[in-house]
Amino acid sequence: MILVTGGAGFIGSHTCVELLNSGYEVVVVDNLCNSHKTSLERVEKITGKKLSFEQADVRDAVALDGIFSKYHIDCVIHFAGLKAVGESVQKPLEYFDNNLNSSLVLCDVMKKHNVHNLVFSSSATVYSGDNKMPLKEDSKTGDCTNPYGWTKYMSEQIFKALCVADPQMSVVLLRYFNPIGAHESGLIGEDPRGIPNNLLPYVSQTAVGIREKVTVFGDDYPTPDGTGVRDYIHVVDLARAHICAVEYAEKHKGCDVFNIGTGRGTSVLEIIKAFSEASSINVPYQIGPRRPGDLPVCYADCSKAKNVLGFETKYDIKRMCADSWRWQKNNPKGYAK
Ligand code: NAD
Ligand code: UD1
Repeated sequence: MILVTGGAGFIGSHTCVELLNSGYEVVVVDNLCNSHKTSLERVEKITGKKLSFEQADVRDAVALDGIFSKYHIDCVIHFAGLKAVGESVQKPLEYFDNNLNSSLVLCDVMKKHNVHNLVFSSSATVYSGDNKMPLKEDSKTGDCTNPYGWTKYMSEQIFKALCVADPQMSVVLLRYFNPIGAHESGLIGEDPRGIPNNLLPYVSQTAVGIREKVTVFGDDYPTPDGTGVRDYIHVVDLARAHICAVEYAEKHKGCDVFNIGTGRGTSVLEIIKAFSEASSINVPYQIGPRRPGDLPVCYADCSKAKNVLGFETKYDIKRMCADSWRWQKNNPKGYAK
């Protein structure tokens, strides 16, 4: 059985679908601080299979210990965490507490229950800003520009040290690039609280009429059209990468790290155009100033994930936008209805 922390969230819910479809049993632990239980009901609807849900905070050692006693856990996928970059600057202690203590408590309880396999949600944000593109797993890390980034960097250090201390441990660190899209059913997707910070939810909320227009953060970058370039990956592809990682964790010891992206960069204007085509709505936008801390270009070298995990993406930008739009159109207010 796979324990999925943060499994009610955006990436977690899509991963639960792939796990259930691959024949795994799943128990989700989530405190629902940034998600709705409805997402898990939808996961069951999509797959026609049941999963177990325990509402708990991963930092609650007593609750977690009880969950590990109740279920036979073989592997943990650890998604639970806070992820809003701007908020992490305003509330650093909350971010360090949630994102680091959840990892520490989880590892402690895993050790007590002889569970040695872990897949962790890291981020491309751990890479330093002065690297050459594409980013490789051994590109320079650190120099994070915000507390959220540091929590990912520090969590990676914790897991690496743990694997040195305990040779039975197997940890797979997945550095996600920019997950977008939604399940093709239109039943699960990204449901951000408040005004979205990330590009895709902002674009899709503009298309559906919740926001007036998209502000493009800078058109004077050294890129073909002057706007920022990122490596967007379909969330279902990203979810599938976790199945490869779970399989790899079972046959591997120690700590290993993989970039999970497509290896292709897409600009902000290309995204707005692709989304406009997918939705048949001309998404209005204006050019604004650069956002502080943004890189001009960020994309992955994905050869290690391909060669070692056997993971490759299937979906292109057109499909990512079409699936995002189906979710947004069918659920204009997300899960809240
Ligand atoms: P999300 O907010 O949708 O999901 C995170 C889930 O964790 C939520 O359901 C939330 O309720 C839960 N959670 C948070 N703290 C918890 C705690 N202490 N105990 C129990 N549950 C808790 O976010 P997501 O986009 O699905 O991201 C999942 C993971 O991937 C996060 O760790 C995030 O930092 C990482 N990540 C996300 C992105 C991205 O762009 N979405 C990129 C890189 C890395
Ligand atoms: C952001 C986070 C990063 C996190 C990543 C994935 C910041 C500074 N960085 O990065 O830590 O790992 O999300 O969750 O927040 N854009 C606009 N208008 C908008 C929103 C975005 O033009 O309203 C542009 C950005 O300038 C960027 C691109 O769109 O060029 C993508 O932005 P975003 O979705 O926020 O992702 P990242 O910048 O990669």
